[in-house]
Amino acid sequence: MPPVNDPRSSPASSAAGAAPLRIALVGYGYWGPNLLRNYMELPGAQVAWVCDRRPEALATAQSRYPAIAATTDLEVVLKDAAVDAVLVATPISTHHAIAKAALETGKHVFVEKPMTADAAQARELVELAAERGLTLMVGHTFVYSPPVSKVKELIDQDVLGEIYFITTQRVNLGLHQQDASVVWDLAPHDLSILYYWLGEAAGSVAVTGRGCIVPSIPDVAFINLKFPSGVVAEIQASWLSPVKLRRTIVVGSKKMLLYDDTENVEKVKVFDHGVQLTEPHGFGEFQLSYRTGDIVSPKIEHSEPLKLEAQEFLGAIAERRQPLSDGASGLQVVASLESAEYSLRHDGCEQVIAAAAPS
Ligand SMILES: NC(=O)c1ccc[n+]([C@@H]2O[C@H](COP(=O)([O-])OP(=O)(O)OC[C@H]3O[C@@H](n4cnc5c(N)ncnc54)[C@H](O)[C@@H]3O)[C@@H](O)[C@H]2O)c1
Repeated sequence: MPPVNDPRSSPASSAAGAAPLRIALVGYGYWGPNLLRNYMELPGAQVAWVCDRRPEALATAQSRYPAIAATTDLEVVLKDAAVDAVLVATPISTHHAIAKAALETGKHVFVEKPMTADAAQARELVELAAERGLTLMVGHTFVYSPPVSKVKELIDQDVLGEIYFITTQRVNLGLHQQDASVVWDLAPHDLSILYYWLGEAAGSVAVTGRGCIVPSIPDVAFINLKFPSGVVAEIQASWLSPVKLRRTIVVGSKKMLLYDDTENVEKVKVFDHGVQLTEPHGFGEFQLSYRTGDIVSPKIEHSEPLKLEAQEFLGAIAERRQPLSDGASGLQVVASLESAEYSLRHDGCEQVIAAAAPS
């Protein structure tokens, strides 16, 4: 049986007869249209509103979907008692205020990554959602990506053995953000993936990087993480690179793995490679045995992560359970980003990541 929080087991995709959830989308810029398209295709959802500050964005949305009401005023959406849930796809600095207002008017909330601009804001949302009995979910899209789920499965089945370390590269010639460093823009993806795979959050972080183009906004960062279990990890994040790399290597005691999200097929390869320490022959001597065996690429079903993510949101609301990427996971990632940014701006000092549980 699939685990309870596996979106593929969600009844939202198969619920017959239940009234569709009425949804409002706030933010129709670059990412909002992707959310809207997916929710429009789900039988369990009915998108009632699109809200954006820019009238031209609303005009575009309405030309595609004439049946959806549009407004520049968030209050109008929140006052509509028929709206059950709000999706927030606005810039990071606005997430907290919009999500808080929506929860306070009794709406379930899905908020894009990173959940908020600081951990105190994230904690407040988690507590508010719990008090009101509402679903709070964060858009950690990659935890709904089939290759990421496959790696999770392999780790959980002990195929790789004890995980020693993970390195990951997320670099390309990317759009420089006006109000956030590359850490806040790109690392939420890797942090959410690592925390999902390992089932634990990092205990400390040390980051070096620099703002090469705009000195006050770091555009390259090398993020080093230590986990309570002993796993160490490094995330390379940059908007400056001649090529687009989305490569992750997981090294375990039994096997090693390469996950390359830029590959069209064979995104995940498992290498039966390893090194073992054999019994020492004398004082100060040791021997190593090297193994280079088969390389296997497991079959991975193709599904759009955003569709699975949307199904998970509807399923969690319908079943009154925590979604896979719940508010607590959003808080963990934001707390880690906050510590990472501090380290980056203080000469790479190692920063303990404050326990991310709600107070
Ligand atoms: N999950 C993913 O893979 C993924 C990918 C890209 C972006 N994102 C996230 O999506 C969010 C939006 O990013 P984007 O690139 O679409 O930004 P964007 O700037 O392109 O779009 C944001 C939109 O929000 C609107 N807006 C701003 N403040 C508003 C307010 N108070 N009320 C209503 N509308 C408001 C803007 O007019 C704009 O149209 C960010 O949190 C980003 O990190 C997630």
